[in-house]
Amino acid sequence: MEIESLVIHGGVDGDKATGAVNVPIYQTSTYKQAEFGVTKGYEYTRTGNPTREAVEKLIADLEEGIGGLAFGSGMAAITAVLSLFKSGDHIIIPDNLYGGTFRVFDKVFRNFNIDYIIADTSKVENIKEILEYDKSVKAVYIETPTNPLMDITDIEAVSLLAEKYKVLTIVDNTFLTPYLQKPLALGADIVIHSATKYLAGHSDVVAGLVVVKDKVLLEKLQFIQNSIGGVLSPFDSFLLVRGIKTLAVRMDRHNENAEKIVDFLINNSDIEKVYYPGLKDNPGYEVQKKQAKGNGGVVSFALGQDIDYKKFLSSFKVITLGESLGGVESLICHPATMTHAAIPYEIRQSVGITDNLVRLSVGIENVDDLIQDIKNAIDTGRIN
Ligand SMILES: Cc1ncc(COP(=O)(O)O)c(C=O)c1O
Repeated sequence: MEIESLVIHGGVDGDKATGAVNVPIYQTSTYKQAEFGVTKGYEYTRTGNPTREAVEKLIADLEEGIGGLAFGSGMAAITAVLSLFKSGDHIIIPDNLYGGTFRVFDKVFRNFNIDYIIADTSKVENIKEILEYDKSVKAVYIETPTNPLMDITDIEAVSLLAEKYKVLTIVDNTFLTPYLQKPLALGADIVIHSATKYLAGHSDVVAGLVVVKDKVLLEKLQFIQNSIGGVLSPFDSFLLVRGIKTLAVRMDRHNENAEKIVDFLINNSDIEKVYYPGLKDNPGYEVQKKQAKGNGGVVSFALGQDIDYKKFLSSFKVITLGESLGGVESLICHPATMTHAAIPYEIRQSVGITDNLVRLSVGIENVDDLIQDIKNAIDTGRIN
Protein backbone atom coordinates (compact mmCIF):
# COMPACT_ATOMS: atom_id res chain seq x y z
CA MET A 1 0.00 0.00 0.00
CA GLU A 2 1.16 3.52 -0.75
CA ILE A 3 1.39 5.96 2.12
CA GLU A 4 -1.81 7.83 1.13
CA SER A 5 -3.70 4.55 1.72
CA LEU A 6 -1.56 3.45 4.64
CA VAL A 7 -2.45 6.53 6.70
CA ILE A 8 -6.07 5.36 6.48
CA HIS A 9 -5.73 1.57 6.52
CA GLY A 10 -2.37 0.97 8.24
CA GLY A 11 -1.93 -0.30 11.78
CA VAL A 12 -5.19 -1.79 13.04
CA ASP A 13 -7.84 -1.24 10.37
CA GLY A 14 -11.13 -1.02 12.27
CA ASP A 15 -12.52 -3.07 15.13
CA LYS A 16 -12.57 -6.86 14.69
CA ALA A 17 -15.12 -7.40 17.47
CA THR A 18 -17.88 -5.19 16.03
CA GLY A 19 -16.87 -4.18 12.50
CA ALA A 20 -16.69 -0.52 13.55
CA VAL A 21 -14.54 1.24 10.96
CA ASN A 22 -12.64 3.03 13.71
CA VAL A 23 -10.81 1.43 16.60
CA PRO A 24 -12.94 2.34 19.65
CA ILE A 25 -11.67 4.28 22.63
CA TYR A 26 -10.94 1.57 25.15
CA GLN A 27 -11.33 3.86 28.13
CA THR A 28 -10.23 1.45 30.80
CA SER A 29 -7.36 1.25 33.21
CA THR A 30 -7.55 -2.47 33.80
CA TYR A 31 -8.89 -5.75 32.37
CA LYS A 32 -10.85 -8.58 33.91
CA GLN A 33 -9.05 -11.90 34.16
CA ALA A 34 -11.40 -14.79 33.22
CA GLU A 35 -9.72 -16.89 35.85
CA PHE A 36 -6.46 -16.69 37.73
CA GLY A 37 -3.68 -15.78 35.30
CA VAL A 38 -5.91 -15.95 32.20
CA THR A 39 -6.08 -12.67 30.24
CA LYS A 40 -7.03 -11.63 26.70
CA GLY A 41 -3.55 -10.18 26.25
CA TYR A 42 -4.13 -7.04 28.32
CA GLU A 43 -3.56 -6.57 32.03
CA TYR A 44 -3.25 -2.87 32.76
CA THR A 45 -3.43 0.14 30.44
CA ARG A 46 0.03 1.53 31.22
CA THR A 47 1.36 -1.77 29.88
CA GLY A 48 -1.05 -2.14 26.96
CA ASN A 49 -4.27 -0.69 25.59
CA PRO A 50 -5.92 -1.54 22.24
CA THR A 51 -6.49 2.11 21.25
CA ARG A 52 -2.89 3.00 22.02
CA GLU A 53 -1.75 -0.11 20.17
CA ALA A 54 -3.69 1.07 17.11
CA VAL A 55 -1.63 4.25 16.89
CA GLU A 56 1.60 2.44 17.78
CA LYS A 57 1.08 -0.04 14.95
CA LEU A 58 0.05 2.71 12.56
CA ILE A 59 3.15 4.83 13.11
CA ALA A 60 5.34 1.71 12.83
CA ASP A 61 3.78 0.98 9.43
CA LEU A 62 4.18 4.57 8.26
CA GLU A 63 7.81 4.83 9.36
CA GLU A 64 8.63 1.32 8.08
CA GLY A 65 9.66 0.15 11.53
CA ILE A 66 8.87 -3.05 13.44
CA GLY A 67 7.20 -1.37 16.39
CA GLY A 68 6.02 1.95 17.73
CA LEU A 69 5.44 3.42 21.16
CA ALA A 70 3.04 6.22 22.08
CA PHE A 71 3.66 8.71 24.85
CA GLY A 72 1.82 11.57 26.51
CA SER A 73 3.98 14.19 24.73
CA GLY A 74 6.93 14.53 22.39
CA MET A 75 9.06 15.30 25.44
CA ALA A 76 7.91 12.08 27.15
CA ALA A 77 8.93 10.20 23.98
CA ILE A 78 12.34 11.89 23.99
CA THR A 79 12.76 11.20 27.71
CA ALA A 80 12.01 7.52 27.14
CA VAL A 81 14.61 7.33 24.36
CA LEU A 82 17.25 9.13 26.45
CA SER A 83 16.53 6.65 29.25
CA LEU A 84 18.28 4.04 27.08
CA PHE A 85 21.60 5.63 28.07
CA LYS A 86 23.62 5.40 31.25
CA SER A 87 25.90 7.54 33.36
CA GLY A 88 29.06 8.48 31.44
CA ASP A 89 27.44 8.28 28.00
CA HIS A 90 27.68 11.23 25.61
CA ILE A 91 25.20 12.17 22.88
CA ILE A 92 25.90 14.51 19.95
CA ILE A 93 23.12 17.08 19.41
CA PRO A 94 22.60 19.80 16.77
CA ASP A 95 23.54 23.42 17.51
CA ASN A 96 19.92 24.43 16.99
CA LEU A 97 17.08 22.17 17.99
CA TYR A 98 13.76 22.43 19.78
CA GLY A 99 14.36 24.36 23.02
CA GLY A 100 12.57 21.79 25.17
CA THR A 101 14.78 19.01 23.81
CA PHE A 102 17.87 21.03 24.67
CA ARG A 103 16.43 21.66 28.14
CA VAL A 104 15.86 17.99 28.89
CA PHE A 105 19.45 17.22 27.84
CA ASP A 106 20.87 20.19 29.73
CA LYS A 107 18.79 20.31 32.90
CA VAL A 108 17.61 16.73 33.39
CA PHE A 109 19.86 14.10 31.83
CA ARG A 110 23.04 16.00 32.61
CA ASN A 111 22.19 15.53 36.30
CA PHE A 112 22.41 11.80 35.65
CA ASN A 113 25.82 12.30 34.02
CA ILE A 114 24.48 11.71 30.51
CA ASP A 115 26.09 14.60 28.71
CA TYR A 116 25.60 16.22 25.31
CA ILE A 117 28.07 17.57 22.78
CA ILE A 118 26.83 20.35 20.52
CA ALA A 119 27.79 20.19 16.84
CA ASP A 120 26.67 21.59 13.54
CA THR A 121 25.33 18.21 12.46
CA SER A 122 24.67 19.48 8.94
CA LYS A 123 28.41 18.93 8.38
CA VAL A 124 29.01 15.20 8.69
CA GLU A 125 32.75 15.76 9.16
CA ASN A 126 31.97 17.50 12.49
CA ILE A 127 30.27 14.35 13.74
CA LYS A 128 33.15 12.18 12.53
CA GLU A 129 35.66 14.32 14.37
CA ILE A 130 33.76 13.98 17.65
CA LEU A 131 33.25 10.23 17.20
CA GLU A 132 36.98 9.87 16.58
CA TYR A 133 38.14 11.53 19.81
CA ASP A 134 35.26 10.83 22.21
CA LYS A 135 34.71 7.14 22.77
CA SER A 136 31.90 7.87 25.26
CA VAL A 137 29.59 9.00 22.48
CA LYS A 138 26.75 6.50 22.23
CA ALA A 139 24.36 8.30 19.89
CA VAL A 140 23.92 11.06 17.37
CA TYR A 141 20.63 12.90 17.89
CA ILE A 142 19.44 14.90 14.91
CA GLU A 143 16.56 17.08 13.88
CA THR A 144 16.31 17.59 10.15
CA PRO A 145 15.13 20.20 9.36
CA THR A 146 16.18 21.74 12.67
CA ASN A 147 13.76 23.79 14.71
CA PRO A 148 13.84 26.75 14.02
CA LEU A 149 16.66 27.37 11.50
CA MET A 150 15.76 24.60 9.07
CA ASP A 151 19.30 23.18 8.84
CA ILE A 152 19.44 19.89 7.00
CA THR A 153 21.46 16.87 8.07
CA ASP A 154 22.19 13.98 5.73
CA ILE A 155 20.46 11.10 7.54
CA GLU A 156 22.00 8.40 5.37
CA ALA A 157 25.55 9.72 5.75
CA VAL A 158 25.19 10.15 9.52
CA SER A 159 23.64 6.70 9.93
CA LEU A 160 26.47 5.04 7.98
CA LEU A 161 29.04 6.85 10.08
CA ALA A 162 27.22 6.06 13.32
CA GLU A 163 27.02 2.39 12.38
CA LYS A 164 30.77 2.31 11.79
CA TYR A 165 31.37 3.72 15.26
CA LYS A 166 28.64 1.49 16.73
CA VAL A 167 26.53 4.35 18.01
CA LEU A 168 22.81 4.96 17.50
CA THR A 169 21.29 7.47 15.10
CA ILE A 170 18.17 9.11 16.52
CA VAL A 171 16.08 11.36 14.28
CA ASP A 172 13.33 13.74 15.37
CA ASN A 173 11.05 13.58 12.32
CA THR A 174 8.41 15.99 13.65
CA PHE A 175 8.76 18.61 10.91
CA LEU A 176 8.42 16.35 7.88
CA THR A 177 6.54 13.25 9.11
CA PRO A 178 6.87 9.88 7.34
CA TYR A 179 4.81 11.29 4.49
CA LEU A 180 7.82 13.35 3.44
CA GLN A 181 10.81 11.64 5.03
CA LYS A 182 11.53 8.15 6.37
CA PRO A 183 14.62 8.16 8.58
CA LEU A 184 14.59 4.40 9.32
CA ALA A 185 14.68 3.58 5.61
CA LEU A 186 17.64 5.96 5.33
CA GLY A 187 19.51 4.01 8.01
CA ALA A 188 18.54 5.65 11.31
CA ASP A 189 17.86 3.47 14.37
CA ILE A 190 15.21 5.47 16.19
CA VAL A 191 12.59 7.94 14.98
CA ILE A 192 10.92 10.34 17.38
CA HIS A 193 7.86 12.52 16.84
CA SER A 194 6.14 15.27 18.63
CA ALA A 195 2.86 13.88 17.31
CA THR A 196 1.28 17.02 18.75
CA LYS A 197 2.26 18.66 15.48
CA TYR A 198 1.56 17.42 11.92
CA LEU A 199 0.59 13.86 12.83
CA ALA A 200 -2.33 14.87 15.06
CA GLY A 201 -2.63 17.98 12.92
CA HIS A 202 -5.44 19.88 14.64
CA SER A 203 -3.78 21.46 17.69
CA ASP A 204 -5.99 19.41 19.98
CA VAL A 205 -3.65 16.67 21.23
CA VAL A 206 -0.27 16.57 22.95
CA ALA A 207 1.43 13.29 22.05
CA GLY A 208 4.78 11.69 21.30
CA LEU A 209 5.78 8.66 19.24
CA VAL A 210 8.89 6.53 18.88
CA VAL A 211 9.57 3.95 16.16
CA VAL A 212 12.42 1.46 15.81
CA LYS A 213 13.39 -1.28 13.40
CA ASP A 214 15.29 -3.52 15.80
CA LYS A 215 13.60 -6.05 18.10
CA VAL A 216 16.03 -5.68 20.99
CA LEU A 217 15.71 -1.89 20.95
CA LEU A 218 11.92 -2.20 20.80
CA GLU A 219 11.86 -4.48 23.84
CA LYS A 220 14.12 -2.11 25.77
CA LEU A 221 11.88 0.83 24.93
CA GLN A 222 8.72 -1.08 25.80
CA PHE A 223 10.28 -1.87 29.16
CA ILE A 224 11.14 1.82 29.65
CA GLN A 225 7.65 2.90 28.53
CA ASN A 226 6.01 0.61 31.05
CA SER A 227 8.51 1.47 33.80
CA ILE A 228 8.50 5.26 33.45
CA GLY A 229 4.88 5.29 32.43
CA GLY A 230 4.41 8.43 30.32
CA VAL A 231 1.91 6.65 28.05
CA LEU A 232 -0.65 8.24 25.72
CA SER A 233 -4.25 8.04 26.97
CA PRO A 234 -6.85 6.00 25.03
CA PHE A 235 -8.78 9.14 24.07
CA ASP A 236 -5.70 10.95 22.77
CA SER A 237 -4.60 7.78 20.95
CA PHE A 238 -7.98 7.79 19.19
CA LEU A 239 -7.60 11.46 18.23
CA LEU A 240 -4.12 10.80 16.93
CA VAL A 241 -5.27 7.91 14.71
CA ARG A 242 -8.06 10.14 13.45
CA GLY A 243 -5.64 12.98 12.71
CA ILE A 244 -3.16 10.76 10.87
CA LYS A 245 -5.87 9.65 8.41
CA THR A 246 -5.70 13.07 6.69
CA LEU A 247 -1.91 13.48 6.95
CA ALA A 248 -1.25 13.12 3.22
CA VAL A 249 -3.75 15.72 2.05
CA ARG A 250 -2.81 18.11 4.82
CA MET A 251 0.92 17.85 4.15
CA ASP A 252 0.40 18.49 0.43
CA ARG A 253 -1.48 21.68 1.25
CA HIS A 254 1.04 22.74 3.95
CA ASN A 255 3.84 22.31 1.39
CA GLU A 256 2.00 24.16 -1.34
CA ASN A 257 1.06 27.11 0.90
CA ALA A 258 4.54 27.30 2.44
CA GLU A 259 6.17 27.49 -0.97
CA LYS A 260 3.94 30.40 -2.00
CA ILE A 261 4.65 32.20 1.26
CA VAL A 262 8.39 31.65 0.84
CA ASP A 263 8.13 33.19 -2.64
CA PHE A 264 6.39 36.20 -1.16
CA LEU A 265 8.95 36.55 1.66
CA ILE A 266 12.10 36.28 -0.46
CA ASN A 267 10.80 39.03 -2.71
CA ASN A 268 9.99 41.38 0.17
CA SER A 269 12.62 43.97 1.11
CA ASP A 270 11.37 44.10 4.73
CA ILE A 271 12.49 40.52 5.24
CA GLU A 272 16.19 40.08 5.93
CA LYS A 273 16.53 36.34 5.53
CA VAL A 274 14.29 33.34 4.91
CA TYR A 275 15.07 29.86 6.26
CA TYR A 276 13.41 27.09 4.26
CA PRO A 277 14.96 23.83 2.97
CA GLY A 278 13.44 24.33 -0.47
CA LEU A 279 15.51 27.44 -1.10
CA LYS A 280 18.55 26.96 -3.29
CA ASP A 281 20.63 29.10 -0.92
CA ASN A 282 19.91 26.75 1.98
CA PRO A 283 23.19 24.79 2.32
CA GLY A 284 21.15 21.61 2.79
CA TYR A 285 19.13 22.06 -0.40
CA GLU A 286 20.65 19.11 -2.30
CA VAL A 287 20.55 16.73 0.68
CA GLN A 288 16.95 17.70 1.35
CA LYS A 289 16.01 16.97 -2.26
CA LYS A 290 17.68 13.56 -1.97
CA GLN A 291 16.13 12.47 1.33
CA ALA A 292 12.71 14.15 1.51
CA LYS A 293 9.68 14.25 -0.75
CA GLY A 294 8.84 17.82 0.24
CA ASN A 295 9.90 20.66 2.49
CA GLY A 296 7.03 20.85 4.95
CA GLY A 297 5.09 23.80 6.25
CA VAL A 298 7.52 25.53 8.60
CA VAL A 299 9.23 28.70 7.42
CA SER A 300 11.46 30.84 9.63
CA PHE A 301 12.45 34.35 8.69
CA ALA A 302 14.36 37.30 10.06
CA LEU A 303 12.64 40.69 9.95
CA GLY A 304 14.52 43.68 8.58
CA GLN A 305 15.60 46.38 11.00
CA ASP A 306 12.70 48.67 10.07
CA ILE A 307 10.20 46.22 11.51
CA ASP A 308 9.42 46.09 15.24
CA TYR A 309 9.05 42.36 15.91
CA LYS A 310 6.72 42.86 18.89
CA LYS A 311 4.31 45.01 16.89
CA PHE A 312 4.62 42.67 13.91
CA LEU A 313 3.78 39.62 15.99
CA SER A 314 0.82 41.33 17.67
CA SER A 315 -0.85 42.32 14.40
CA PHE A 316 -2.10 39.09 12.88
CA LYS A 317 -5.79 38.51 12.22
CA VAL A 318 -5.79 35.12 10.46
CA ILE A 319 -2.48 33.68 11.67
CA THR A 320 -2.41 32.84 15.39
CA LEU A 321 0.41 34.06 17.64
CA GLY A 322 1.24 31.02 19.73
CA GLU A 323 3.62 28.16 20.36
CA SER A 324 3.49 24.85 18.50
CA LEU A 325 3.24 24.07 14.80
CA GLY A 326 1.78 21.57 12.40
CA GLY A 327 -1.89 22.35 12.96
CA VAL A 328 -4.39 23.13 10.22
CA GLU A 329 -4.32 26.75 11.40
CA SER A 330 -1.25 28.90 10.78
CA LEU A 331 0.76 29.65 13.90
CA ILE A 332 3.50 32.20 14.32
CA CYS A 333 5.98 32.40 17.18
CA HIS A 334 9.07 34.19 18.44
CA PRO A 335 11.64 31.45 19.07
CA ALA A 336 14.00 33.57 21.20
CA THR A 337 11.38 34.19 23.90
CA MET A 338 8.93 31.36 23.30
CA THR A 339 9.96 27.96 21.96
CA HIS A 340 13.73 28.36 22.36
CA ALA A 341 14.02 30.47 25.52
CA ALA A 342 15.61 27.48 27.31
CA ILE A 343 18.68 27.74 25.06
CA PRO A 344 21.33 30.04 26.57
CA TYR A 345 21.51 33.53 25.02
CA GLU A 346 25.08 33.09 23.68
CA ILE A 347 24.21 29.85 21.86
CA ARG A 348 21.04 31.41 20.42
CA GLN A 349 22.94 34.43 19.14
CA SER A 350 25.80 32.42 17.69
CA VAL A 351 23.52 30.19 15.62
CA GLY A 352 21.06 32.88 14.53
CA ILE A 353 18.09 32.57 16.89
CA THR A 354 18.02 36.35 17.19
CA ASP A 355 15.26 38.69 18.36
CA ASN A 356 14.19 39.49 14.80
CA LEU A 357 13.67 35.80 13.94
CA VAL A 358 10.11 34.49 13.69
CA ARG A 359 8.89 30.98 12.94
CA LEU A 360 5.76 30.50 10.91
CA SER A 361 3.91 27.21 10.76
CA VAL A 362 1.96 27.60 7.56
CA GLY A 363 -1.52 26.16 7.89
CA ILE A 364 -3.95 24.98 5.25
CA GLU A 365 -6.05 28.15 4.99
CA ASN A 366 -6.39 30.08 1.74
CA VAL A 367 -2.83 31.17 1.01
CA ASP A 368 -3.85 34.63 -0.23
CA ASP A 369 -5.46 35.32 3.14
CA LEU A 370 -2.20 34.32 4.83
CA ILE A 371 -0.05 36.49 2.56
CA GLN A 372 -2.37 39.46 3.09
CA ASP A 373 -2.14 38.92 6.86
CA ILE A 374 1.68 38.96 6.70
CA LYS A 375 1.63 42.09 4.51
CA ASN A 376 -0.62 43.87 7.04
CA ALA A 377 1.60 42.80 9.95
CA ILE A 378 4.69 44.13 8.15
CA ASP A 379 2.94 47.46 7.59
CA THR A 380 1.79 47.69 11.20
CA GLY A 381 5.21 46.69 12.48
CA ARG A 382 7.10 49.29 10.45
CA ILE A 383 9.05 51.62 12.75
CA ASN A 384 9.10 54.71 10.57
C1 LIG B 1 10.96 19.24 16.79
C2 LIG B 1 10.25 19.04 18.11
N1 LIG B 1 10.52 17.94 18.83
C3 LIG B 1 9.92 17.71 20.02
C4 LIG B 1 9.03 18.61 20.55
C5 LIG B 1 8.37 18.33 21.87
O1 LIG B 1 7.08 17.85 21.69
P1 LIG B 1 5.85 18.06 22.68
O2 LIG B 1 5.57 19.51 22.74
O3 LIG B 1 4.77 17.24 22.06
O4 LIG B 1 6.26 17.53 24.02
C6 LIG B 1 8.70 19.76 19.82
C7 LIG B 1 7.73 20.72 20.35
O5 LIG B 1 7.58 21.82 19.84
C8 LIG B 1 9.35 19.98 18.56
O6 LIG B 1 9.09 21.07 17.83
